[in-house]
Amino acid sequence: MTADGPSQKQNERQKSRHIGGGSFFGPHFAMTNKPSQIHPATDQAVAEAAALISAGALVAFPTETVYGLGADATSDSAVAAVFAAKDRPDFNPLIVHFAEAQAASRVVVFDQRARALARAFWPGALTLVLPRRPGNPISLLASSGLDTLAVRVPDHPVGRALLEAAGRPIAAPSANHSGTVSPTTAGHVAASLGDRVALILDGGPCRVGIESTVIDLTGAEPVVLRPGGIATEAIEAEIGALAAPETGAGPARSPGMIGRHYAPRTPLRLDAQTPRPGEALLAFGPDAPTQTPGEVLNLSTTGDVEEAAANLFSMMRALDDAQATVIAVMTVPEAGLGRAINDRLRRAATPPD
Ligand code: TXA
Ligand code: MG
Repeated sequence: MTADGPSQKQNERQKSRHIGGGSFFGPHFAMTNKPSQIHPATDQAVAEAAALISAGALVAFPTETVYGLGADATSDSAVAAVFAAKDRPDFNPLIVHFAEAQAASRVVVFDQRARALARAFWPGALTLVLPRRPGNPISLLASSGLDTLAVRVPDHPVGRALLEAAGRPIAAPSANHSGTVSPTTAGHVAASLGDRVALILDGGPCRVGIESTVIDLTGAEPVVLRPGGIATEAIEAEIGALAAPETGAGPARSPGMIGRHYAPRTPLRLDAQTPRPGEALLAFGPDAPTQTPGEVLNLSTTGDVEEAAANLFSMMRALDDAQATVIAVMTVPEAGLGRAINDRLRRAATPPD
């Protein structure tokens, strides 16, 4: 994806990713940028796309709202590849897509409001933010380490066929480069991300054309985090008044995010070289100390920021449980996904107000 020695790095990465199940093909496929990447959504193309998803690669697919950049939602490395492909400067949590509501209910906890909205609007342009079930298999990176998860059942025959064929939930933001508009045709996807996606399933132009409405149901009052394809009036007709997200004074609020970042209870010390007595170490790179009195976990022993992103939230949580006074964090380079990692580390190091 970047200019620095891609194929060798990818070979290493593929080898290292075989540990823990699931290989990692995303960047390998990223080297081609041919119009042939766009495949009319025949049964065969859908089957091929499903196999790619299962192998950890990225596939763009149509939903009724916009095209999504899909990855296996249960794989941290596949989800990290999504953030890398979009060049996001932060880890905005992703929507996880399911073939049917029942599959979603195995991963998040539905209350009465959620059930009413799912019955009324799914499949459709509505995303529900709900508490994650303990022990659910969804990547922590997909929800930025949060205990909540955004879930949706899309209403598009191709999107649903892909979800069924893949047999697993698919994490998918809009299939565009960070900071550009959401794609509503396969051609838009190819123009924005063409060299970063294994395959683009062409299902024609999107019917709705704007993103799904995002409703946060994790608090006492339902909150509109993002207006979208389903009118808020229609939602209010089902579950009553919706609160607007906080705006105005204070720091700018990105949807559903302020005060809700995952932050460890243990204080963080950034830019550490070695741990002090009593500290755990979140290490990075080949030169990290290994013989330390406290717990040490290495985000990437090869210094690969994409691998580090895949490990970030699970390792932060593991060290948070290690009973250390402080988690010392080594420096992660401010390049590629390193920017998003550092953004999140800095937030985690800032005590809540
Ligand atoms: O229509 C859509 O929603 C499209 C298609 C592909 O499904 N997807 C999409 O994803 O627009 P994305 O990543 O561009 O937007 C996801 C939105 C963001 O505003 C994000 O902050 C919010 O959902 N979100 C996701 N998970 C969240 C969570 N756990 N808590 C709060 N907000 C969340
Ligand atoms: Mg988007």
